[in-house]
Amino acid sequence: MTLVETDLAPVLAPLETARGLPNAAYTDPSVHAQEQAALFASGWAGLGFAADVPEPGDVRPVDFLGQPLLMARDRAGTLRVFHNVCRHRGMILVAAAGNLPRAIRCPYHSWCYELDGRLRTTPHVGGPGTNRHDAIDRGSLGLVEVASHEWLGVVWINLDGRAGPFEDHAATLRGRWAEFDRPLHTAPDSMFELEVACNWKLAVENYCESYHLPWVHPGLNSYSRLEDHYNIEAPGAFSGQGTLVYRPMLSEDGRRFPDFPDLARKWNEGAEYVALYPNVLLGVHRDHTFAIVLCPEGTERTRERVAIFYTEERVLGQDWHAMRAANARMWKEVFVEDIFVVEGMQRGRHATGFDGGRFSPAMDGPTHCFHAWAAERLGARPYVT
Ligand code: FES
Ligand SMILES: [Fe+2]
Repeated sequence: MTLVETDLAPVLAPLETARGLPNAAYTDPSVHAQEQAALFASGWAGLGFAADVPEPGDVRPVDFLGQPLLMARDRAGTLRVFHNVCRHRGMILVAAAGNLPRAIRCPYHSWCYELDGRLRTTPHVGGPGTNRHDAIDRGSLGLVEVASHEWLGVVWINLDGRAGPFEDHAATLRGRWAEFDRPLHTAPDSMFELEVACNWKLAVENYCESYHLPWVHPGLNSYSRLEDHYNIEAPGAFSGQGTLVYRPMLSEDGRRFPDFPDLARKWNEGAEYVALYPNVLLGVHRDHTFAIVLCPEGTERTRERVAIFYTEERVLGQDWHAMRAANARMWKEVFVEDIFVVEGMQRGRHATGFDGGRFSPAMDGPTHCFHAWAAERLGARPYVT
């Protein structure tokens, strides 16, 4: 089915009476296809991390909602995203991540592209021994680039190229988190992945709210309680929650990660966790940030790619390894605690008796905010009282 206005109207009602998105939004492959254009291709979505291709010459193929894309860092260090297909007969260009110091060579007929996408050589294209042909204008046959932007360590893309600058798209959140907008550093031991059997939206929804803390995260809740949290809602852009009692991690010998410079006082004990729609979950603290890029792998399966970032490069040194690993372990435990609920909600979406559910007016505003964004983009009419 395709979700239409009548399916979506209850989602845009006021929080007190609204219902959540209908079950089909979580279980129906054709709605999933509808979302790809409405929620992903038309805006800025998270593709991966700049750290996926850290060195000049690094390439990494990425399947994004069924589309073969390629992240590539050129010799000057610029990261770009291309469609991972040759301009000749559409062969997949790069099959595995690696380093290509010289060029991207198509394995079919050996057309070669620079890492910045320019078509460099076309062997025998004019017949044996003739590497040029008047009809093959190399200048116009470079790799097809996808608009991309790097922020908070995440590579964001706009597939249809019509979303306008990323800076405008994320202006409100960038303003709110200006102190964290600087070069960030991560390492392989600070990146991990989780596979979850749920639609990607349930991962967003669960991340947006702190309501579940006492029961799902008793460890976290022991020092950062429900009443220490507040909701964050920026309609049409992002939502999430913040805490007033963040405590930096201490090593056994009393060290802690260096703070971001010039932080406002709010961040001494504050931390914020926000889903920037559609698919990136972000967390900021005085001494580290993290990002989770949700990669939908079908209607009921999602890969969560997590990376933790530090403000000073020296934290990547061997002497910080144990502490970096401890921080990654701590976050992984928290995110693993959430798996049974997102997977349980996914199974629940197969109950024909479920009507989208009702929201706590006090606690679920951020989730409703996300639903309203999705419903509007899927074609709901603005709610009129
Ligand atoms: S398909 Fe790439 S060179 Fe022919
Ligand atoms: Fe959680």
